[in-house]
Amino acid sequence: MEDRIIDAEEKIEDVFEKNIRPQSLDEYVGQSEIKENLRVFIKAALMREEPLDHVLLYGPPGLGKTTMAHIIANELGSNIKTASGPSIEKTGDLAAILSTLEPGDVLFIDEIHRMPKFIEEVLYPAMEDFEIDLVIGETGKSRNIKIDLPPFTLVGATTRAGDISSPLRDRFGIISKLEYYQKEELESIIKRTSRVLDMPIEDEAAGELSGRCRKTPRIANRLFKRVRDFALVEGDEAITKEMTIKSLERLKVDEYGLDAIDIEYLESLITKFNGGPVGVETIATSIGEETSTIEDVVEPFLLQEGFIKRTQRGRVATEKAYDHLRIAHNESMF
Ligand SMILES: Nc1ncnc2c1ncn2[C@@H]1O[C@H](COP(=O)(O)OP(=O)(O)O)[C@@H](O)[C@H]1O
Ligand SMILES: [Mg+2]
Repeated sequence: MEDRIIDAEEKIEDVFEKNIRPQSLDEYVGQSEIKENLRVFIKAALMREEPLDHVLLYGPPGLGKTTMAHIIANELGSNIKTASGPSIEKTGDLAAILSTLEPGDVLFIDEIHRMPKFIEEVLYPAMEDFEIDLVIGETGKSRNIKIDLPPFTLVGATTRAGDISSPLRDRFGIISKLEYYQKEELESIIKRTSRVLDMPIEDEAAGELSGRCRKTPRIANRLFKRVRDFALVEGDEAITKEMTIKSLERLKVDEYGLDAIDIEYLESLITKFNGGPVGVETIATSIGEETSTIEDVVEPFLLQEGFIKRTQRGRVATEKAYDHLRIAHNESMF
């Protein structure tokens, strides 16, 4: 699939934007329940001079899991060491990371659901008793060694909470689900980015952008940067609503945040398959995409926003989809 500007997954270009990432709980917009709970737990841990309980953050890409992991370390006044599930292939990889930990450190494991099961098992005693048991040497001559670790806090992040085994999940004292953001929260994130990047944006423009970013801060920031380019080249001092609409039209992101692929999907479902029900494989074939791409990347947002429904017999377009594409339909269909 071609690159989508509304993709919530992190792209290389996003990585250079560390400066727009909030650094403290006060700067972190929204997710107020999680934030206020963490504030208390962090304070209590500091008062007890003990490490914070292990934290599991889960939710769709781009909602602020990695950001929150760094903030937790900042608020604890600790260092953070980072790793990602798929990069830990051998128990030795995990042992190497664990052996660099200093007392009170935060170990952040991103995509923790992709860690192999046998590595998870090494992690259990590390999380519970701050020790690891390793088997070293070849078969026949192997022996077990036990290594003590300093007290630390594991922060795990995952987009798929369902893929985490229950023994692993049970070892996290704090489990938080990140929610999609409200419009006002996105506006305030956009305004913050505008201040950090020193490109003013009018209130109405921030409002417009906040409605088109799929309720996701990462996409809000990415769209902001592209609109900023248009504004710069056209010589505007501040981003206006007009400029925002014009730029997003050129980027083919519509007022709901749908892009060309979303529209193609809906058009196909409605015009070729009469609005469904139709199997996802059939739709995928008809628009020349992989079924897995459609299921993992395209459908979640269309479902979340009520453009399609999943039924036993396949996907169905909703009235909202017909209205959005301005395709006539009769009321009795729904
Ligand atoms: N609550 C928030 N307040 C302000 N900006 C945020 C917030 N959450 C995320 N962001 C912005 O969105 C970007 C993506 O967040 P990130 O933590 O990388 O998401 P995730 O790890 O869940 O995919 C960050 O670079 C940050 O600038
Ligand atoms: Mg992340």
